[in-house]
Amino acid sequence: MTKMSHAFIICSANQRKRIPSLFIIDVSDQMEDDKLNILEATKLHKSYGNKFNKQEVLKGIDIRIQKGEFVSIMGPSGSGKTTLLNVLSSIDQVSDGTIQIENQDMTKMKEKQLAEFRKNHLGFIFQDYNLLDTLTVKENILLPLSITKTPKKEADQRFAALAKELGIYELKDKYPNEISGGQKQRTSAARAFIHEPSIIFADEPTGALDSKSASDLLNKLSELNQKLKSTIVMVTHDPAAASYCSRVIFIKDGRIYTQLNKGEQDRQVFFQDIMKTQGVLSGVTYER
Ligand SMILES: Nc1ncnc2c1ncn2[C@@H]1O[C@H](COP(=O)(O)OP(=O)(O)O)[C@@H](O)[C@H]1O
Ligand SMILES: [Mg+2]
Repeated sequence: MTKMSHAFIICSANQRKRIPSLFIIDVSDQMEDDKLNILEATKLHKSYGNKFNKQEVLKGIDIRIQKGEFVSIMGPSGSGKTTLLNVLSSIDQVSDGTIQIENQDMTKMKEKQLAEFRKNHLGFIFQDYNLLDTLTVKENILLPLSITKTPKKEADQRFAALAKELGIYELKDKYPNEISGGQKQRTSAARAFIHEPSIIFADEPTGALDSKSASDLLNKLSELNQKLKSTIVMVTHDPAAASYCSRVIFIKDGRIYTQLNKGEQDRQVFFQDIMKTQGVLSGVTYER
Protein backbone atom coordinates (compact mmCIF):
# COMPACT_ATOMS: atom_id res chain seq x y z
CA MET A 1 0.00 0.00 0.00
CA THR A 2 1.33 3.45 -0.86
CA LYS A 3 1.30 6.13 1.74
CA MET A 4 0.26 9.61 0.64
CA SER A 5 1.48 12.69 2.36
CA HIS A 6 0.07 16.14 1.57
CA ALA A 7 1.66 19.51 2.21
CA PHE A 8 -0.88 22.16 3.10
CA ILE A 9 0.24 25.69 2.42
CA ILE A 10 -1.55 28.58 3.99
CA CYS A 11 -1.14 31.68 1.87
CA SER A 12 -2.73 34.84 0.56
CA ALA A 13 -4.11 35.28 -2.96
CA ASN A 14 -0.90 36.97 -4.20
CA GLN A 15 1.33 34.20 -2.92
CA ARG A 16 -1.01 31.64 -4.36
CA LYS A 17 -0.23 32.68 -7.92
CA ARG A 18 3.39 31.71 -7.32
CA ILE A 19 2.80 28.32 -5.68
CA PRO A 20 1.90 25.51 -8.07
CA SER A 21 0.41 23.26 -5.43
CA LEU A 22 -2.89 21.47 -5.32
CA PHE A 23 -3.06 21.65 -1.58
CA ILE A 24 -3.43 25.30 -0.84
CA ILE A 25 -5.69 26.71 1.80
CA ASP A 26 -6.48 30.21 0.63
CA VAL A 27 -6.91 32.41 3.67
CA SER A 28 -6.94 35.75 1.83
CA ASP A 29 -10.68 36.23 2.49
CA GLN A 30 -10.26 35.36 6.11
CA MET A 31 -7.33 37.78 6.46
CA GLU A 32 -9.52 40.48 4.98
CA ASP A 33 -12.30 39.62 7.45
CA ASP A 34 -10.00 39.62 10.45
CA LYS A 35 -9.06 43.23 9.75
CA LEU A 36 -12.67 44.27 10.12
CA ASN A 37 -13.34 42.41 13.36
CA ILE A 38 -14.29 44.91 16.02
CA LEU A 39 -14.60 42.21 18.66
CA GLU A 40 -12.66 38.98 18.91
CA ALA A 41 -13.29 36.69 21.85
CA THR A 42 -11.29 33.49 22.10
CA LYS A 43 -11.80 30.43 24.31
CA LEU A 44 -13.96 32.21 26.85
CA HIS A 45 -14.60 30.37 30.08
CA LYS A 46 -16.59 31.65 33.01
CA SER A 47 -17.28 29.81 36.24
CA TYR A 48 -19.14 30.83 39.35
CA GLY A 49 -18.67 29.51 42.86
CA ASN A 50 -15.55 28.07 44.48
CA LYS A 51 -13.45 24.95 43.87
CA PHE A 52 -15.80 22.81 45.98
CA ASN A 53 -18.94 24.06 44.31
CA LYS A 54 -18.09 25.26 40.84
CA GLN A 55 -20.55 25.97 38.05
CA GLU A 56 -19.01 26.41 34.63
CA VAL A 57 -21.38 28.69 32.72
CA LEU A 58 -19.26 29.48 29.62
CA LYS A 59 -17.30 26.49 28.36
CA GLY A 60 -14.97 27.77 25.65
CA ILE A 61 -16.73 30.30 23.44
CA ASP A 62 -15.16 31.88 20.35
CA ILE A 63 -16.90 34.90 18.82
CA ARG A 64 -15.88 37.31 16.07
CA ILE A 65 -17.97 40.37 15.37
CA GLN A 66 -17.36 42.67 12.44
CA LYS A 67 -17.82 46.42 12.40
CA GLY A 68 -21.39 47.35 11.56
CA GLU A 69 -22.94 43.98 12.41
CA PHE A 70 -26.23 43.74 14.31
CA VAL A 71 -25.88 40.40 16.06
CA SER A 72 -28.18 38.68 18.48
CA ILE A 73 -27.34 36.02 21.01
CA MET A 74 -30.11 33.53 21.71
CA GLY A 75 -30.42 30.42 23.83
CA PRO A 76 -32.62 28.82 26.48
CA SER A 77 -33.05 30.49 29.84
CA GLY A 78 -29.97 29.86 32.00
CA SER A 79 -27.77 29.00 29.00
CA GLY A 80 -25.35 31.84 29.79
CA LYS A 81 -26.53 34.67 27.48
CA THR A 82 -26.33 37.42 30.09
CA THR A 83 -23.06 36.01 31.43
CA LEU A 84 -21.63 36.09 27.90
CA LEU A 85 -22.78 39.65 27.26
CA ASN A 86 -21.44 40.77 30.65
CA VAL A 87 -17.98 39.34 30.02
CA LEU A 88 -17.86 40.65 26.44
CA SER A 89 -18.75 44.11 27.70
CA SER A 90 -16.36 43.88 30.67
CA ILE A 91 -19.16 44.26 33.23
CA ASP A 92 -17.91 40.91 34.56
CA GLN A 93 -14.49 39.21 34.38
CA VAL A 94 -13.76 36.04 32.43
CA SER A 95 -12.24 33.03 34.21
CA ASP A 96 -10.14 32.27 31.13
CA GLY A 97 -9.81 33.44 27.51
CA THR A 98 -9.21 36.74 25.77
CA ILE A 99 -11.47 39.53 24.53
CA GLN A 100 -10.23 42.15 22.11
CA ILE A 101 -12.29 45.17 21.17
CA GLU A 102 -10.77 47.48 18.53
CA ASN A 103 -7.57 45.40 18.90
CA GLN A 104 -7.27 46.19 22.59
CA ASP A 105 -7.16 43.27 24.98
CA MET A 106 -9.80 43.91 27.63
CA THR A 107 -8.73 40.92 29.70
CA LYS A 108 -5.33 42.50 30.31
CA MET A 109 -6.59 45.93 31.36
CA LYS A 110 -6.55 47.21 34.93
CA GLU A 111 -9.89 48.33 36.39
CA LYS A 112 -9.19 52.06 35.89
CA GLN A 113 -8.15 51.58 32.26
CA LEU A 114 -11.19 49.37 31.71
CA ALA A 115 -13.55 52.01 33.15
CA GLU A 116 -11.99 54.57 30.81
CA PHE A 117 -12.37 52.20 27.84
CA ARG A 118 -16.01 51.44 28.70
CA LYS A 119 -17.03 55.08 28.91
CA ASN A 120 -15.38 55.98 25.59
CA HIS A 121 -15.98 52.88 23.50
CA LEU A 122 -19.04 51.02 24.80
CA GLY A 123 -22.76 51.74 24.97
CA PHE A 124 -25.35 49.82 26.99
CA ILE A 125 -29.09 49.21 26.81
CA PHE A 126 -30.60 47.22 29.70
CA GLN A 127 -33.97 45.52 30.01
CA ASP A 128 -35.00 47.81 32.87
CA TYR A 129 -33.74 51.00 31.13
CA ASN A 130 -31.34 52.13 33.91
CA LEU A 131 -32.36 55.77 33.53
CA LEU A 132 -31.72 58.21 36.36
CA ASP A 133 -35.11 59.30 37.75
CA THR A 134 -33.87 62.70 38.87
CA LEU A 135 -32.64 63.67 35.41
CA THR A 136 -34.77 64.66 32.42
CA VAL A 137 -34.83 62.68 29.17
CA LYS A 138 -32.32 65.10 27.66
CA GLU A 139 -30.01 65.01 30.68
CA ASN A 140 -30.10 61.22 30.73
CA ILE A 141 -29.19 61.05 27.05
CA LEU A 142 -26.36 63.58 27.45
CA LEU A 143 -24.80 61.75 30.40
CA PRO A 144 -22.10 59.88 28.40
CA LEU A 145 -21.08 63.16 26.74
CA SER A 146 -20.84 65.04 30.03
CA ILE A 147 -18.53 62.29 31.31
CA THR A 148 -16.29 62.65 28.24
CA LYS A 149 -16.52 66.49 28.48
CA THR A 150 -17.84 67.03 24.94
CA PRO A 151 -18.40 70.77 24.18
CA LYS A 152 -22.01 71.86 24.81
CA LYS A 153 -22.76 72.95 21.24
CA GLU A 154 -21.67 69.62 19.79
CA ALA A 155 -23.50 67.72 22.54
CA ASP A 156 -26.72 69.65 21.81
CA GLN A 157 -26.43 68.96 18.07
CA ARG A 158 -25.89 65.26 18.58
CA PHE A 159 -28.74 65.12 21.08
CA ALA A 160 -31.20 66.84 18.72
CA ALA A 161 -30.32 64.60 15.76
CA LEU A 162 -30.55 61.37 17.73
CA ALA A 163 -33.63 62.28 19.77
CA LYS A 164 -35.49 63.26 16.58
CA GLU A 165 -34.39 60.03 14.91
CA LEU A 166 -35.76 58.04 17.85
CA GLY A 167 -38.97 60.10 18.07
CA ILE A 168 -38.39 61.39 21.62
CA TYR A 169 -37.25 64.97 20.98
CA GLU A 170 -40.56 66.40 22.20
CA LEU A 171 -40.14 64.56 25.51
CA LYS A 172 -36.76 66.11 26.26
CA ASP A 173 -37.83 67.98 29.42
CA LYS A 174 -39.87 65.14 30.91
CA TYR A 175 -38.68 62.85 33.69
CA PRO A 176 -38.56 59.05 33.27
CA ASN A 177 -41.66 58.54 35.45
CA GLU A 178 -43.66 60.75 33.05
CA ILE A 179 -43.05 58.65 29.92
CA SER A 180 -44.00 55.14 28.72
CA GLY A 181 -41.81 52.02 28.76
CA GLY A 182 -41.23 52.24 25.01
CA GLN A 183 -40.23 55.91 25.31
CA LYS A 184 -37.91 55.07 28.21
CA GLN A 185 -36.17 52.40 26.16
CA ARG A 186 -35.78 54.74 23.18
CA THR A 187 -34.26 57.26 25.62
CA SER A 188 -31.83 54.64 26.83
CA ALA A 189 -31.05 53.72 23.21
CA ALA A 190 -30.23 57.39 22.50
CA ARG A 191 -27.96 57.41 25.55
CA ALA A 192 -26.20 54.29 24.23
CA PHE A 193 -25.58 55.82 20.77
CA ILE A 194 -24.76 59.42 21.68
CA HIS A 195 -21.01 59.07 22.19
CA GLU A 196 -20.70 56.96 19.02
CA PRO A 197 -19.28 53.91 20.79
CA SER A 198 -17.46 51.07 19.02
CA ILE A 199 -20.08 48.58 20.21
CA ILE A 200 -23.50 48.76 21.82
CA PHE A 201 -24.45 45.90 24.11
CA ALA A 202 -28.15 45.31 24.80
CA ASP A 203 -29.49 42.68 27.21
CA GLU A 204 -33.14 41.82 26.47
CA PRO A 205 -33.91 45.45 25.49
CA THR A 206 -37.48 44.53 24.53
CA GLY A 207 -38.04 42.25 27.54
CA ALA A 208 -40.27 44.72 29.39
CA LEU A 209 -42.05 46.17 26.34
CA ASP A 210 -45.39 45.43 24.66
CA SER A 211 -45.08 44.12 21.12
CA LYS A 212 -45.76 47.47 19.40
CA SER A 213 -43.14 49.31 21.51
CA ALA A 214 -40.74 46.41 20.96
CA SER A 215 -41.06 46.55 17.18
CA ASP A 216 -40.76 50.38 17.24
CA LEU A 217 -37.51 50.07 19.19
CA LEU A 218 -36.11 47.32 16.96
CA ASN A 219 -36.97 49.25 13.80
CA LYS A 220 -35.09 52.25 15.21
CA LEU A 221 -32.10 50.15 16.28
CA SER A 222 -31.97 48.59 12.86
CA GLU A 223 -32.17 52.01 11.13
CA LEU A 224 -29.43 53.45 13.34
CA ASN A 225 -27.29 50.36 12.75
CA GLN A 226 -27.53 50.93 9.01
CA LYS A 227 -27.23 54.73 8.98
CA LEU A 228 -24.44 55.10 11.54
CA LYS A 229 -22.76 51.73 10.83
CA SER A 230 -22.87 51.08 14.56
CA THR A 231 -22.16 47.61 15.84
CA ILE A 232 -24.87 46.14 18.10
CA VAL A 233 -24.75 42.93 20.12
CA MET A 234 -28.13 42.06 21.59
CA VAL A 235 -29.21 39.22 23.87
CA THR A 236 -32.81 38.16 23.40
CA HIS A 237 -35.00 35.13 23.93
CA ASP A 238 -37.53 36.47 21.40
CA PRO A 239 -37.24 35.18 17.79
CA ALA A 240 -39.18 38.21 16.54
CA ALA A 241 -36.59 40.55 18.07
CA ALA A 242 -33.70 38.45 16.74
CA SER A 243 -35.15 38.58 13.21
CA TYR A 244 -34.17 42.28 12.99
CA CYS A 245 -30.49 41.27 13.24
CA SER A 246 -28.06 40.32 10.49
CA ARG A 247 -26.80 37.26 12.40
CA VAL A 248 -28.06 35.13 15.27
CA ILE A 249 -25.67 33.14 17.46
CA PHE A 250 -27.32 30.36 19.46
CA ILE A 251 -25.76 29.15 22.67
CA LYS A 252 -26.64 26.08 24.67
CA ASP A 253 -25.12 24.90 27.94
CA GLY A 254 -22.33 27.45 27.71
CA ARG A 255 -21.21 26.57 24.17
CA ILE A 256 -22.01 27.94 20.72
CA TYR A 257 -24.60 25.62 19.24
CA THR A 258 -25.01 27.15 15.79
CA GLN A 259 -25.54 30.44 14.01
CA LEU A 260 -27.80 31.81 11.30
CA ASN A 261 -27.10 34.59 8.82
CA LYS A 262 -29.94 36.66 7.49
CA GLY A 263 -28.22 37.37 4.16
CA GLU A 264 -30.69 38.66 1.59
CA GLN A 265 -33.64 36.94 3.24
CA ASP A 266 -36.77 38.77 4.11
CA ARG A 267 -37.30 39.28 7.87
CA GLN A 268 -40.33 36.96 7.98
CA VAL A 269 -38.37 34.11 6.37
CA PHE A 270 -35.46 34.70 8.76
CA PHE A 271 -37.94 34.68 11.66
CA GLN A 272 -39.18 31.22 10.59
CA ASP A 273 -35.58 29.94 10.44
CA ILE A 274 -34.87 31.30 13.91
CA MET A 275 -38.07 29.70 15.25
CA LYS A 276 -37.08 26.32 13.80
CA THR A 277 -33.55 26.48 15.18
CA GLN A 278 -34.87 27.55 18.56
CA GLY A 279 -37.26 24.60 18.47
CA VAL A 280 -34.48 22.13 17.68
CA LEU A 281 -32.33 23.70 20.40
CA SER A 282 -34.98 23.19 23.04
CA GLY A 283 -35.83 19.67 21.85
CA VAL A 284 -39.10 20.47 20.07
CA THR A 285 -39.54 18.59 16.80
CA TYR A 286 -41.81 19.74 14.04
CA GLU A 287 -44.21 17.24 12.57
CA ARG A 288 -45.79 17.60 9.18
N1 LIG B 1 -23.40 36.14 39.67
C1 LIG B 1 -23.69 34.83 39.58
N2 LIG B 1 -23.33 33.97 40.56
C2 LIG B 1 -23.59 32.65 40.45
N3 LIG B 1 -24.21 32.07 39.41
C3 LIG B 1 -24.61 32.87 38.41
C4 LIG B 1 -24.37 34.30 38.43
N4 LIG B 1 -24.86 34.83 37.28
C5 LIG B 1 -25.39 33.80 36.58
N5 LIG B 1 -25.25 32.64 37.25
C6 LIG B 1 -25.69 31.31 36.77
O1 LIG B 1 -25.20 31.12 35.46
C7 LIG B 1 -26.16 30.46 34.64
C8 LIG B 1 -26.41 31.30 33.40
O2 LIG B 1 -27.05 32.50 33.76
P1 LIG B 1 -27.36 33.67 32.74
O3 LIG B 1 -26.12 34.03 32.04
O4 LIG B 1 -28.06 34.74 33.50
O5 LIG B 1 -28.37 32.95 31.72
P2 LIG B 1 -29.38 33.53 30.64
O6 LIG B 1 -29.14 35.00 30.51
O7 LIG B 1 -29.09 32.75 29.40
O8 LIG B 1 -30.75 33.21 31.15
C9 LIG B 1 -27.40 30.25 35.50
O9 LIG B 1 -27.39 28.93 35.97
C10 LIG B 1 -27.20 31.24 36.63
O10 LIG B 1 -27.80 30.75 37.81
MG1 LIG C 1 -30.31 36.75 30.80
